[in-house]
Amino acid sequence: ARPEKCVVAVDGPSGSGKSTVSRRLATRVDGVYLDTGAMYRAVTWAVLQAGVDLNDPDAIAKIALETELSIGTDPAAPHFAANGTNVDEPIRGVEVTQAVSAVAAVPAVRKHLVALQQAIIAGQPRIIVEGRDIATVVAPDADLKVYLTASSAARAQRRSAEDASDVKATEADLARRDKLDSTRKADPLKLADDAIEVDTTGIGIDEVVTYVLNLLNSKVKS
Ligand code: DC
Repeated sequence: ARPEKCVVAVDGPSGSGKSTVSRRLATRVDGVYLDTGAMYRAVTWAVLQAGVDLNDPDAIAKIALETELSIGTDPAAPHFAANGTNVDEPIRGVEVTQAVSAVAAVPAVRKHLVALQQAIIAGQPRIIVEGRDIATVVAPDADLKVYLTASSAARAQRRSAEDASDVKATEADLARRDKLDSTRKADPLKLADDAIEVDTTGIGIDEVVTYVLNLLNSKVKS
């Protein structure tokens, strides 16, 4: 049975399995999926297109506020566009991946995107939201808060299987981004007090999804 209403927050570092788990959960509860990392990536794409200096937070914020985002929430096909251009491919490319932590560290960018995220969440009966600050900032009243982790080797292995990159280089890049994302001043990645931590190292995705669904069903009425 599917829940009548639910907001599920799925936070954790890159490569912890958030996207796969969140999309499957959304499908299983007949709900939508919001990839907040893709929102930061789409804004970063627009910032790079505009040729803005990544050391200039005011210029970055200006672009973020001007960029018209189209945010797909279908878990089977979550397409994104920025200023009318489909950005599904470029937001996964190395240029955006290299620059996104700098953009996501700008408080005005976060304020703007968090407001958009909260508006999307408010309009949906069932939504699975993945990111870094969902349980702590975006949806502190979520019905269920899950924090996914995995060993850095497992995370690097998953990422490089996705994008055919070198495992060692990926592990180094993940470590670099984790450090930036968890030590920045504005809404750093951190475990919420009431989140349930799930270590996905060596566990199959199906097992994780089943576990989280059982947790959810024990918390909300269907
Ligand atoms: O999950 P991801 O790799 O697509 O996220 C891209 C970047 O965006 C990552 O470096 C952290 C940042 N991010 C964030 O600061 N807050 C979120 N809610 C989601 C992502």
